Amino acid sequence: MTDKLRRIGILTGGGDCPGLNAVIRAVVKTAAYDHGIDVIGIENGFEGLIRDRCRPLSTGDVSGILARGGTILGTSNKDNPFRVPIRENGETVYRDLSEEAIRIAKRHGIQLLITVGGDGSLSIARDLGSRGLKVIGVPKTIDNDLDATDVTFGFDSALAVATEAIDRLHTTAQSHQRIMVIEVMGRYAGWIALQAGLAGGADAILIPEIPFQIEKVAESIGDRIYSGRSFAIVVVAEGAAPAGGSMSVRDMIADSPDPVRLGGIGNIVAGQLEKLLDRETRTTVLGHVQRGGIPTPTDRMLGTRFGAHAVKAAVAGENEVMVRLRGQVVETVPLSEAVAKLRRVDPEGELVRTARSLHTTFGI
Ligand code: F6P
Repeated sequence: MTDKLRRIGILTGGGDCPGLNAVIRAVVKTAAYDHGIDVIGIENGFEGLIRDRCRPLSTGDVSGILARGGTILGTSNKDNPFRVPIRENGETVYRDLSEEAIRIAKRHGIQLLITVGGDGSLSIARDLGSRGLKVIGVPKTIDNDLDATDVTFGFDSALAVATEAIDRLHTTAQSHQRIMVIEVMGRYAGWIALQAGLAGGADAILIPEIPFQIEKVAESIGDRIYSGRSFAIVVVAEGAAPAGGSMSVRDMIADSPDPVRLGGIGNIVAGQLEKLLDRETRTTVLGHVQRGGIPTPTDRMLGTRFGAHAVKAAVAGENEVMVRLRGQVVETVPLSEAVAKLRRVDPEGELVRTARSLHTTFGI
């Protein structure tokens, strides 16, 4: 017979995004009001579990955080209990401290851990699950690249920021008759670029799923400029790459589950277009502005629904599952399935076809 659930833990792992606090609030309130369950907050992602930084979260602690960006628990996209860097004799060695992390969780009376994260954090949660800690995952990421859910919270907020940036670039592009290149995030998926590009009326959208030829981009932008509309907007996903070329890497972060940090393609594209078209071109790299600030109502709603559902699933005895949205329904899916596949843009899909029919080029 399984023990009655009295205490659960929650942590937020990986890069932050708007809507994390909505999940924390929903978990704490649903646990307390509906089920009389205590919640322990673990600070800075899995680091808090490795270093024992855990604190009780009361309903008072989560009051007023729904509209706040970031995460009140802090997060980390480096710490992995299965691979903890330790200095020994002047050298860094890596140790598996997962058993110790599970012991820390159990010492706090945590019977089940809700992990709010992207594919990296959810994979760690799955592996802790196989070591005997009960886990439930909640998917987040502005990249919207988890195949197992129709959408992740954080994406809508990032999309709103990127679209507003494009709108603002439009007016200054028009005043100066310039080409404006805007580089947006999204890692290996082009969802932010594609949807912000569509919503903002971009003239070119370059995404990782469709390798581009700069000459084709220039041809299309040139047609537009020389036919009288003397400015243009080019949206470039950070993971976009030329046909036959590779993605632009800005940085490598040691100890991160995915050490690659993309960036720089916006400037490359701008430099090439300026040369090919002999037209003043400027680049805006939107960066972490896309991850900061208040969540949109859609993300607050989704975070709230996911958080409440995670608690219900825990009470119902579910384990090693991830909460997800399919159609209009919030449900669970096995964690192993949830982290198995990234969701990327279909180059022949409806969104790409729609953009093409509006004469937006993808550079092919
Ligand atoms: O996964 C979210 C994300 O913002 C990506 O879009 C981006 O590539 C990456 O994280 C940036 O990571 P960091 O915050 O470590 O620079």
